Amino acid sequence: MDHFLYRNGALHAEDVPLSDIAVAVGTPFYVYSAATLTRHYSLFTEALSPLPHLVCFAIKSLSNIAVLKLLGDLGAGMDVVSQGEYLRAKAAGVPGERIVFSGVGKTAAEMRLALEGGIRQFNVESEPELEALSAVATSMGLQAPITIRVNPDVDAKTHEKIATGKKENKFGIPISRAAEVYALAARLPGLRVVGIDVHIGSQLTELAPFEEAYTKVAALTETLRAAGHSIERLDLGGGLGIPYERSNTAPPLPIEYGAMIKRVLGPLGCEIEIEPGRLISGNSGLLVTKVIYNKAGEDRDFLIVDAAMNDLLRPSMYGAHHDIVPVIEPAPASPRQVYDVVGPVCETGDTFAKARALTELGADDLIAFRSAGAYGAVMASEYNTRPLVPEVLVKGDQFAVIRHRPTYEEILARDRIPEWL
Ligand code: LLP
Repeated sequence: MDHFLYRNGALHAEDVPLSDIAVAVGTPFYVYSAATLTRHYSLFTEALSPLPHLVCFAIKSLSNIAVLKLLGDLGAGMDVVSQGEYLRAKAAGVPGERIVFSGVGKTAAEMRLALEGGIRQFNVESEPELEALSAVATSMGLQAPITIRVNPDVDAKTHEKIATGKKENKFGIPISRAAEVYALAARLPGLRVVGIDVHIGSQLTELAPFEEAYTKVAALTETLRAAGHSIERLDLGGGLGIPYERSNTAPPLPIEYGAMIKRVLGPLGCEIEIEPGRLISGNSGLLVTKVIYNKAGEDRDFLIVDAAMNDLLRPSMYGAHHDIVPVIEPAPASPRQVYDVVGPVCETGDTFAKARALTELGADDLIAFRSAGAYGAVMASEYNTRPLVPEVLVKGDQFAVIRHRPTYEEILARDRIPEWL
């Protein structure tokens, strides 16, 4: 469920007509619904209660500081994967004890920054990283709280580019070697083991792969405890999928995911951490764009819109589907027209949808890509020197620009012509 509905024939974000935002900020723009973000976050906290738990929002899915503040104020923790994301979490007022640091390539500078600013735990992914973190923490007279990310060799049954839990993936240490790697961690003076971490992929549409991985983590918890390690927390990663196509069968609900976690891991008495990104942010955001031309091609019609692959990369990168809806509600029996919906960038990959049946649309009509809140704005670039799309947050009948569209002066001013040229 989200809060983007037609009212009086016009698509609204909560109580605000999208066409009002288009007039105020121009197109294209991302728009997020505070009520939807809040609801999706709450679904997870409700699903995990009464287990002790922390829902750490995966900042990589939607990193605007206003969104992080909204979630942080609700009590959310944050999952960060870089110095920049750590600084965003702090700028949003999230305390260090609610920030977990993930990622295969943390640098010494990133470790130092997080140890100085406060951190709940590092999710460590390799032996060299254990050694490096211990050295940094020791040099600061500290002990870094850690989990070790294990790779359970489970098929997440998702797109190959976002599956992370198979042994051929770069992530984590093989679960079969966990005992020896935990033994190394226990020997290193700058580390304090607090738990186990696992994350098998993104946009999972079934519970079975999660359950397979978590069952292995449960067994590992017992083994590691028997070897004397203190396993107080289990970080279960993110990955629960969302329904991108309204016509498809829906992925499992957070309540079902939570029930499985309680069944498989509840008896261990650990604090549960999860790192959802997409399920919180995905359906909380739209990308609104304007038709520039309706171009009749030889064997198909093209709807050329003012958003492009640099603004929403998912269709060209993963072949991802995003539902497209007109901002003016079509009459129930209005005729349909089949279009390829494309952007202005000079490559054929700049295609949002092929052979999509929509109502008849023409120049200046507004359309919206649904489910664009996750991995939309964050993956945008300025390819073709197209300014980053602004982000707008709606709450009830209020809206605010939470990231402005850069001016061309700002963009050009970043480049420097060397004196010697
Ligand atoms: N935790 C870790 C360690 C992750 O690597 C990820 C996502 C998450 C949590 C959050 O996963 P989520 O709940 O959002 O599925 N750009 C791709 C998705 C990449 C996901 C990367 N890792 C896309 O647009 O589909």
